[in-house]
Amino acid sequence: MRVVVLENVNDVAEFGAKQIANQVMKQSSSVLGLATGSSPLPLYQCLVDMVESNTISLRDVVTFNLDEYLGLAPEHPQSYRSFMNRHLFERTDIDLANTNIPNGLADNTEQACLDYEQAIERAGGIDLQLLGIGNNGHIGFNEPSSSLASRTRVKTLSKETVEANRRFFKAGEFQPHLAITMGIGSIMEAKSILMIATGEAKTEAVKAAVEGPLSASCPASILQMHPNATVVLDRAAASQLTELEYYVYIEHERNRLAEAV
Ligand code: F6R
Repeated sequence: MRVVVLENVNDVAEFGAKQIANQVMKQSSSVLGLATGSSPLPLYQCLVDMVESNTISLRDVVTFNLDEYLGLAPEHPQSYRSFMNRHLFERTDIDLANTNIPNGLADNTEQACLDYEQAIERAGGIDLQLLGIGNNGHIGFNEPSSSLASRTRVKTLSKETVEANRRFFKAGEFQPHLAITMGIGSIMEAKSILMIATGEAKTEAVKAAVEGPLSASCPASILQMHPNATVVLDRAAASQLTELEYYVYIEHERNRLAEAV
């Protein structure tokens, strides 16, 4: 696992956006796995800027989002479809027809989950999966105790997650407690993974994910098993890492070697 510790939210966003840009420049038809939530917003803004300045084009990419609330129509302002349209898709040259988000209104959810997995497979698998991390260590909506081999399915959100996401909903507005999420096993099949975390609220989850034992109690700890996972943190999120100095030193050496080539 590569652990990159940067000064602040902006640095994390720029670093993450560059990783995605490199992937797209290498292969314009890349399959990107995307996340919602607060963490990727500055990164998405960087991607929008890159498209506007013609640094990259997202015209040929195919995207799969991690999750969607069950019971929200795509046009609901708090659906993850709306979120993605608003913050990334409609602000870039991405082809909306190539963007995929689980169907939150599916009658047959089991079939919808299976279809989603098959669509990822048909697209050739995910080249780069972007992840945030919940305060409780979840990735996607794979809450603590989720099987580390799980596939796309319906999950019940933990009280903590419902509470953490309440800020996106108006007072009294229906807030779903169920979601369709890609499973941990599905996420782990991505060829590369980029997890970003910023702010003090993520310190404990980040410590458990990066340095804790591999455990379903912290779903993000599974990334320790991925051959190509990068975790990008700001100082606050990284502050409890025991080996913090070592991670910084590794990156320093990595940059020094790259400059020497
Ligand atoms: C969102 C998702 C979640 C979030 C996590 C962190 O699609 O899958 O796992 O990444 O809840 O959310 P923020 O970034 O809002 O702290």
